[in-house]
Amino acid sequence: MRRLFPESAGDDREWELSELADAYAYPEDQPSGDGWLRANMVSSADGAAHHGGRSKPLSGPADMRIFGVLRALADVVIVGAETVREERYRPARRRAQFAERRLAAGQTTVPAIAVVSASLHLDFGLPLFTEPVVPTLVITGARAPRAGLAAAAAAGVEVVTAGEEAMVAPERLKSALAARGHRRMLTEGGPRLLGLLASAGVVDELCLTVSPRVTVGTAPRVMSGPEVADPSDLVLTDVLEESGFLFNRYRRV
Ligand SMILES: NC(=O)c1ccc[n+]([C@@H]2O[C@H](COP(=O)([O-])OP(=O)(O)OC[C@H]3O[C@@H](n4cnc5c(N)ncnc54)[C@H](OP(=O)(O)O)[C@@H]3O)[C@@H](O)[C@H]2O)c1
Repeated sequence: MRRLFPESAGDDREWELSELADAYAYPEDQPSGDGWLRANMVSSADGAAHHGGRSKPLSGPADMRIFGVLRALADVVIVGAETVREERYRPARRRAQFAERRLAAGQTTVPAIAVVSASLHLDFGLPLFTEPVVPTLVITGARAPRAGLAAAAAAGVEVVTAGEEAMVAPERLKSALAARGHRRMLTEGGPRLLGLLASAGVVDELCLTVSPRVTVGTAPRVMSGPEVADPSDLVLTDVLEESGFLFNRYRRV
């Protein structure tokens, strides 16, 4: 792993997980009272956010290491329902390497997963809901379908309401999670959820892996949805590189 920006002496060895965790630590000085929302996504060199409905074909060993480290630093991992359905999301795993760090930070052994859904068409029999180390949350709007709410209740899944309509109001998502003590937030997409969060201006940081692969095709970019009125600026804070993968990190202005 090499740091390309801000520039430092070349260092081609594989970084320890603890070094990566230090590099990606959440900021102490979180500007918003609602905590810090980081997004982590991988894109092909030609901009695709998935290949054949999966992000794994775009990823590589260093990306998976960073993916794991970002999870290990988070209180909660926010994910869109379609990604859960497509990728058959599993609960976060306990990782011995991070146990001490999480304990010292006052965190549970693993982050909670929070699934954002309006339809509540979720398979509550999946291990994500039946076998988590920390209970998985579902976040929805106040007008969520009753049948879905009943199915969640029957499965013992906690449903958090953030918004008056069926959809979650992006600006309410962070405060609802922060109110539960989840201030170090990580979203792993997918593109539609992230597009909505970014359009609402609630994403504080974007960790974007650019994979040295092309897919062509019609897959969405890492953010998808209606175009914003004016492009919003980001500040590039870090660029790491390994095996041709670029790990770009941006902050919201
Ligand atoms: N490249 C990457 O890093 C990356 C990361 C993640 C996923 N992916 C890929 O992206 C694909 C899925 O992404 P996607 O964009 O189609 O879907 P997505 O963003 O994962 O999920 C969309 C779904 O999330 C729910 N949702 C989103 N915003 C909501 C809101 N404001 N309120 C309530 N519910 C909301 C809705 O669920 P309901 O339909 O249940 O109402 C919506 O249909 C998969 O192929 C996956 O592999 C790639």
